Amino acid sequence: MLTIDNLHAGYNEIAVLHGMSLKVEPGQIVAVLGANGAGKTTLMNTLSGLLRAMSGEVLFEGQPIQNMLAESIVARGISHVPQGRRVFPGLTVQENLMVARTAATRKAPGGWDAALAQVHELFPRLKERKDQLGWSLSGGEQQMLAVSRALVARPKLILLDEPSLGLAPLIFEALFSAILEIRRREGTTFLVVEQNAEQALRVADYVYVMELGRIVAQGTPTEISRDPAIEKAYLGA
Ligand SMILES: Nc1ncnc2c1ncn2[C@@H]1O[C@H](COP(=O)(O)OP(=O)(O)OP(=O)(O)O)[C@@H](O)[C@H]1O
Ligand SMILES: [Mg+2]
Repeated sequence: MLTIDNLHAGYNEIAVLHGMSLKVEPGQIVAVLGANGAGKTTLMNTLSGLLRAMSGEVLFEGQPIQNMLAESIVARGISHVPQGRRVFPGLTVQENLMVARTAATRKAPGGWDAALAQVHELFPRLKERKDQLGWSLSGGEQQMLAVSRALVARPKLILLDEPSLGLAPLIFEALFSAILEIRRREGTTFLVVEQNAEQALRVADYVYVMELGRIVAQGTPTEISRDPAIEKAYLGA
C-alpha cells in the first residue's frame, strides 16, 4: 500500500531523514520506533505533504505522492493525526469533526451521518461532549477527537504521530483497542510512530526502528523485542 524508498527530507536544506526506506502492506499496523529527535514527525509530515521531500520516492497504491499538495494526499485516502493532537481552538467537538469531512465522507454509504455515528459508537465520550469546545476536553479525549477527525475522512491509511504522548496507560490502551476495532471493521491500514516501544510492540504487525533519520532495525514485534538495536535507540545514539 505504501512504499517509501530512499527518502531524504529536512528543513532549510539540512536533511533529517537520510535515506529512509520502508513498506506498509494493506491492513497492517506498522510501527516506527525512535527516540526524541530521530525524525519521526519529519517522516509523517513528509508523507502527508506538509513538508517537501528532498529526494527519494513515496508510492501510495503504486502512485508517486511525494511533494503532492496535502489536500491531494488526503483525497487519495491518507489521513494524518499530528503529534500534539492540534484540536482546532474555538470549535466544538462536533465542529472539529465537521471540518474534517471530505468527498470520501459524502461518497461512503450513509455519508456524514454514518461517519459521525461510527465515531460516536467508537468513542461515546465524544457524543456526550459534542457541544463542548474541543480544547476543553481532557488529553485522552482530545486524542480520541484527533483520531475521529482522521476517521470521518474515510481514509485507507491513517498516519498516527505518537498517539501515546501524555496519556495514562489505561486511556492509551482504550485508544489502541479502538484502533484494532477500526481495522477489523473497515480494513484501515495504520502507520504509527512512537517512542513508547512497549505499547507499539503489542499491537503492531511489523516494526521499524529509526535512529537519526535512518532505519537501523526491522522485524516482527517478537524479533524486535529481542534486538539490541532497540536498546541502543532508546538509550540514545
Ligand atoms: N521546523 C523545523 N526546523 C528545523 N529543524 C527542525 C524542525 N522540526 C524538527 N526539526 C529538527 O529535526 C530533527 C527531528 O525532529 P522530529 O520532530 O522529526 O523528531 P521526532 O522523532 O518526531 O522527535 P519527538 O519524539 O521528540 O517528537 C530534530 O533535530 C529537530 O530539531
Ligand atoms: Mg515527533
